[in-house]
Amino acid sequence: MRHSLILWVVTVMIFGWHCSGPAKTDVPDKPTYAEHIEPIIRSQCVTCHHNGGTAPFSLQTYEEVKRKSKTIARVTAKRYMPPWPADPEYAHFINEKVLTKAEIEIIQRWAETGAAPGDLTKVKPYELPAWKSSIGKPDLVLPIEEVEIEPNMRDRFFLVKIPGLLSRDTWVRAVEFVAGSPDLVHHFNGHILMYDKGKKKNHQKKPYAIEITAGEYDSDFGKLDLLNDDGSKPYRLHSAVNYLPGVQGVAYPDGIGTFRLSGKFTVVGNDLHYGPSNRKTRDRSYINLFFTDKPPSRLTKELMLGTNGVSGITPPLLIAPNSVSKHTTRFQIDRDISLLTVNPHLHLLGKRFTGYALKPNGDTVKLIQIPHWDFRWQYFYTYPNPVYLPAGTIVVAEAVFDNTAGNPNNPNQPPKQVGERMEYGGASMRAGDEMFQFILTYMDYQTGDEKISLDNGKK
Ligand code: HEC
Repeated sequence: MRHSLILWVVTVMIFGWHCSGPAKTDVPDKPTYAEHIEPIIRSQCVTCHHNGGTAPFSLQTYEEVKRKSKTIARVTAKRYMPPWPADPEYAHFINEKVLTKAEIEIIQRWAETGAAPGDLTKVKPYELPAWKSSIGKPDLVLPIEEVEIEPNMRDRFFLVKIPGLLSRDTWVRAVEFVAGSPDLVHHFNGHILMYDKGKKKNHQKKPYAIEITAGEYDSDFGKLDLLNDDGSKPYRLHSAVNYLPGVQGVAYPDGIGTFRLSGKFTVVGNDLHYGPSNRKTRDRSYINLFFTDKPPSRLTKELMLGTNGVSGITPPLLIAPNSVSKHTTRFQIDRDISLLTVNPHLHLLGKRFTGYALKPNGDTVKLIQIPHWDFRWQYFYTYPNPVYLPAGTIVVAEAVFDNTAGNPNNPNQPPKQVGERMEYGGASMRAGDEMFQFILTYMDYQTGDEKISLDNGKK
């Protein structure tokens, strides 16, 4: 592998869905909310459908679900809800949000037969913790500087600085970004800077948030006063915490990806992106940190194919107006790895995404397929067990882009040429420009890795 080009970075945590679907059941004549519907909604819907969640309404009570029963029956039958773009026939992931045929039928019948409540005393109430988290109770919460959102329908981008201080050496198991306004926060890409003793007198100086133009990077950390006092760069844990729409935090099992923090550190968001808003509000997002007593046994690393990554795109990502075009990126790995998580990333013109691996023995390993790309749901997909890929394996990603007027998501009507824009020394994050990335989180392979459950004890 071309080491100079590779982002060998430690990724601390990944995201995925929190729960998985209930077991298959037969369809009863008259299903009830308490017995049949509530368990489905709890495991498949409320991660987004709760007050303050990504979805526009809550589905946490019988009344709320009953009121929407007809629509729920319609959107689940069409598999529009829950959103799960990855094809479950191609590859499986933890916390998959896919309803079984039987579950869909139960919902249909429940709606048709009058949406009966059943014994509501049997329904366990939801706990609504003050610290919203899909991992658990955080050991440290770091608030992000409040951002004022204007109702002007414009994308806004910020560099943010979130200083922290620990009085003793601490092992960190996971880092999680929690969106204050999940309907507005579009993405967050965060790194952790660690200051060696005596290197920075005051790491808490303001400003804590600076508005930037789309895709602008503060690669030398100058604007937020992040450098060591002597002008050198502090150690940076790259991409330690990432967020995309609808994404929930999940930690790897103890010992995987854990890292040490001590003294002065700063989480730097490079960048925090708000989508267009039609309301005035203040966003209060924050970072949750989870500690552990166990030192790491395994480091996780990140490999990024495509835009800004280790492998080129063929043909180059320039998409002519009124065309549908297919692009490929491939990369040969030079060591045995255990693949943990994948994240396909395209923008609005994306139509289809396929990721697979060609082993030296000729076998193909199916990694992920997204038959109908949906810009809004870009999950970090974690495999139930690490996927072993031996040295010499070629990882391939293929993406199809639809730059015709027939693509309802096309931001340009009539269509115009779209591609990667590199004017800031990095790819533009602006939704109107395109990107093609396949990001892999992995660790160096050890015998027996295939048997590790990445579900963290959760089923
Ligand atoms: C990943 C987040 C997420 C999950 C999980 C999710 N939803 Fe949604 N849901 C949304 C969002 C966001 C919207 C509003 C935008 C839209 O309609 O696409 C929505 C809209 C809806 C609507 C309104 C659709 C319409 O046409 O008016 C219904 C009904 C619905 N969801 C039901 C469900 C049910 C039932 C489940 C579980 C089986 C579920 N959702 C799971 C995010 C989610």
